[in-house]
Amino acid sequence: MNLLITGGCGFLGTNLVGHLASHRPEYHLTVFDLLTYAGAKSNIKSLISKGSVAFVQGDICYPDQLDKVLEYGIDMVINLAAETHVDRSILDPGDFVRSNVFGVQVLLDCCRKKSVPLMHISTDEIYGPAPKGVSFREDAAFSPSSPYAASKASADLLILAAVRTYGQEAMIIRPVNNLGPYQYPEKLIPLFVDRLMRGLPVPVYGDGKQTRYWLYVDDFCSAVELAIEGFSKGECHNLSSQTEISNIDLTRQLIEIIGCKQELIRHVDDRPGHDRRYAIDGSKFVNKFGWLPKFELDRALRNTVKWYQDNPGWLKSRKTKEFEQYFDRQYGSL
Ligand code: DAU
Repeated sequence: MNLLITGGCGFLGTNLVGHLASHRPEYHLTVFDLLTYAGAKSNIKSLISKGSVAFVQGDICYPDQLDKVLEYGIDMVINLAAETHVDRSILDPGDFVRSNVFGVQVLLDCCRKKSVPLMHISTDEIYGPAPKGVSFREDAAFSPSSPYAASKASADLLILAAVRTYGQEAMIIRPVNNLGPYQYPEKLIPLFVDRLMRGLPVPVYGDGKQTRYWLYVDDFCSAVELAIEGFSKGECHNLSSQTEISNIDLTRQLIEIIGCKQELIRHVDDRPGHDRRYAIDGSKFVNKFGWLPKFELDRALRNTVKWYQDNPGWLKSRKTKEFEQYFDRQYGSL
């Protein structure tokens, strides 16, 4: 299997590439990544130097760049190339439309020309907030709240339209929140772990009672591995976990694991349009692939904290001037 992983140097991409290189050594892996602020080629450096992964720097918005890389007899594309941070989409939506909407259309067109199947990684955020007791199935209406979620919902619509119009070989996976190594420190968990390890306060939006489901990234990777083997054209699959937790409880748990003071919690202004709760029904994927997440939240959090503790150099390298500017703009003088 000759796989092209677009966005393979970001959080999910880096983990997926590492997972497939060790679990599926027979696959030939090529990473295509623009290397924006959230992607780092160094994440997969050792795999590139061992010859397990080929790397091409490129942008999914440029068909000529994709055409070139698709010429190498690619059997499937897994698309993880995206702008992913909700708060940044509220500050500046333009880049989100460019990569997550326009880029996906270009990728669809290029894959179709070469008859290459596309597996697209979407998000549970397209469904919008779920009332208590409700879990959205794959056929629920889209109701995105943020520019990020709207851009991802648009991509899903374009993909489903291509399936109907051209019979295009494409499928969509919609995971819940992931946690694990290599996540850029703008997201709740790495941001809070980094700050708590340094004894700095952490910004909890609003009352902190918003809830999310969390999935350890290894479980995400094993799900994608199964979906590659059982590619199902035109299908959407939710990918959920058993663990719903409020942001405030999650923060308290992180504080306990790291061993610092609960007083480091600061309630700050809420995120505009903040969804109180996400919840999706993941039974379609579970029934089709016999997949179940292996990592309980506590173990996943401990593994994640340990990885950041063991890799201070990685965190330092990601906190560039751009990160500091974003942080000041987002949090002011926290
Ligand atoms: O649900 C899947 C989505 O999960 C993915 O599609 C997104 O790409 C990914 O960024 C993530 O979105 P969230 O907005 O849920 O993740 P984030 O880590 O930014 O925030 C998690 C929760 O924590 C959310 O309710 C907002 C809150 N939060 C976040 C930050 C960064 C805070 O209270 N304070 C913060 O400083």
